[in-house]
Amino acid sequence: MQTIPGPRAKEIARRDRIAARVRSVAPSGIRRFFDLIQTMDGVISLGVGEPDFTTPWHIREAAIYSIERGYTMYTSNYGLIELRRLIAEHLIRRYGVDYDPRDEIMVTFGVSEGLDLAMRAILDPGDEVLVPDPGYVSYAPCVTFTGGVVRAVPTLADNGFRPHPADFAQRVNDRTKAVLVGYPNNPTGAAPDRETLSQIAKIVAERDLIAISDEIYDRLIYGREHVCFASLPEMRDRTILLGGFSKAYAMTGWRVGYVAAPRDLMDGMLKIHQYTALCAPITSQMAAIEALKNGEAAVEDMVEEYNRRRRVIVKGLNDAGLSCHEPEGAFYAFPSTAATNLSDEEFAEQLLLEERVAVVPGSAFGECGRNHVRCCYATSLAQIEEALRRIDRFVKRKRQG
Ligand SMILES: Cc1ncc(COP(=O)(O)O)c(C=O)c1O
Repeated sequence: MQTIPGPRAKEIARRDRIAARVRSVAPSGIRRFFDLIQTMDGVISLGVGEPDFTTPWHIREAAIYSIERGYTMYTSNYGLIELRRLIAEHLIRRYGVDYDPRDEIMVTFGVSEGLDLAMRAILDPGDEVLVPDPGYVSYAPCVTFTGGVVRAVPTLADNGFRPHPADFAQRVNDRTKAVLVGYPNNPTGAAPDRETLSQIAKIVAERDLIAISDEIYDRLIYGREHVCFASLPEMRDRTILLGGFSKAYAMTGWRVGYVAAPRDLMDGMLKIHQYTALCAPITSQMAAIEALKNGEAAVEDMVEEYNRRRRVIVKGLNDAGLSCHEPEGAFYAFPSTAATNLSDEEFAEQLLLEERVAVVPGSAFGECGRNHVRCCYATSLAQIEEALRRIDRFVKRKRQG
């Protein structure tokens, strides 16, 4: 029998305490940058994907008042029925898609929990999920944690990172269980039109798949309609729709979102949620009720402001020589670093150290994000303008040198 020297044996034993599928996932590529930023002064952050607005006061006040009235207990596993009714009304009013608030809508700890529940409820080990690349950092890990397999579907800058339906069709095989669609997209801001999404929906129907549609940015869309995937022909009963409050209402810290899905899929997700989370926090649910009842004006104001910033940042990045497609939704610009001859990681690191502007390397979001950086414009116009001056100086220097 082979003997392993002491310290190495210990190392192996330690390593094996964590399951192989968890070990196989690399830590978030964004974290290293945020750790570095914490140690520096005067940094303008275009890094974190979080609104710079505070939750509108009337929403905070409703939550405070609910605590004063003694609402401090568990709710139904599905969430407060009043909130579920409001979510159902929102979905039918905006997108014409009809869910029964009694058992087809569940309130979750943000879209993050919804995503995890969706994957755990539908995937057996070895099942494949098509995931557009680049995409939100949690998509692939949530698949891997269940024992599922990610099949990346490339999306490219020359098409504004919108997907080509044929690229999905090509990758479907007998093990494919689901397709993840996440539009408007983080990190690219892409929001494909109805025709493109309908073609993807057709593949879902023909190949008998499930669609998981992350629509957390549904309200942050500029000059075009948001297409709710579940509203496309035959998709309502094939889609797990994930929605949230974090972005549109500036409520990231409240940890509240929802899942809408046909009953059989909901039953699977509810079972996991029931045993692992019980219910979303009641105070946050109270706040979400107020957001849906009276938050529309605030959403519209914030969207208008994001749109103004979007135009400034996209023009500024292109003027600086960083080719940047026009993002159609969310609050991210995703320029190429090619003009500087730097990789995305080199670009982000040097820009941070030399000019104190934080952006996120595109490769954190998948292979197709390589040589791009994500610049979040959910920060004030004054900060964006100063960041652009610094980026311009940085690019000029790199081009000369
Ligand atoms: C595309 C996408 N989905 C989900 C989330 C997580 O949202 P929540 O705060 O609702 O958990 C984020 C957060 O950045 C996101 O960008």
